[in-house]
Amino acid sequence: ELEKIELIKKNIGLYPDFPKAGVLFRDTCTILRQPNAFQALKEVLVQCVRVHFVETECIGGLDARGFLIGPIIALELRIPFIPIRKRGKLPGKVTTEEYTKEYGKDAVEIQDESVTAGAKILLVDDLLATGGSLQASCNLIEKCYGEVIGCLVIAEIENLHGRAQIPVPLHSIVKY
Ligand code: PRP
Ligand code: HPA
Repeated sequence: ELEKIELIKKNIGLYPDFPKAGVLFRDTCTILRQPNAFQALKEVLVQCVRVHFVETECIGGLDARGFLIGPIIALELRIPFIPIRKRGKLPGKVTTEEYTKEYGKDAVEIQDESVTAGAKILLVDDLLATGGSLQASCNLIEKCYGEVIGCLVIAEIENLHGRAQIPVPLHSIVKY
C-alpha cells in the first residue's frame, strides 16, 4: 500500500508559477499518463472506500478532475456515479450552491433526479486546497436531501486548512 502511495505521489506533476506567479500547481492528470500509477491509484481509492467509507451507496464527483476518478471507483463497487458540475452545464431541474473563490463567485450544480432522498453519498475530487469546492458540494447534496458520508481526494494541501471547512470525515492519499 505504501509503495502504491509513493508511486502515485511520484507521478503528480509539479508546476511552479501556475496559474499565476508564486503558486506551485499540483497536476494530478499526469498520473493518467502512467498506467501503473493509475492502476495503483484506482486500487488505493477503492480500498479506501471499502475500509473508511463502507456505507457508501453512491459516488459524487466534482467537475472536472473528480470525473476522472469517481466513475472508476463507482464501477468497481457497482454503485452509481453522479456528476457535480459548474453552473449552467446540466440539463433538467437542477439545484445550485454558490461559493466564494479567490477571485469572485462560482457555483456547483446537480440534477435533482440524480439524488435519491437519504442516499449515502461519498464525494470525490482530485485535490483539496481551500476546501471551498467540496464544502459547497456538501451543502449542495444537503439541499437535495442526500447525505454526504465523507470526502475522498487524491491530494491535500495541508497549509491551506481546507479540511477545517469540510463537515464530514475527509480522507486524502497524498499530503503536501
Ligand atoms: C481545482 C481542483 C479542485 C479545486 C480545489 O479545480 O481540481 O476541484 O480546485 O480547490 P478548493 O479546495 O480551493 O476549492 P478548479 O476549481 O480549478 O476547476 P477545474 O476542475 O474546472 O479546473
Ligand atoms: N492543483 C490543482 N488544483 C488546484 C491546485 C493545485 O495545486 N490549487 C488549487 N486548485
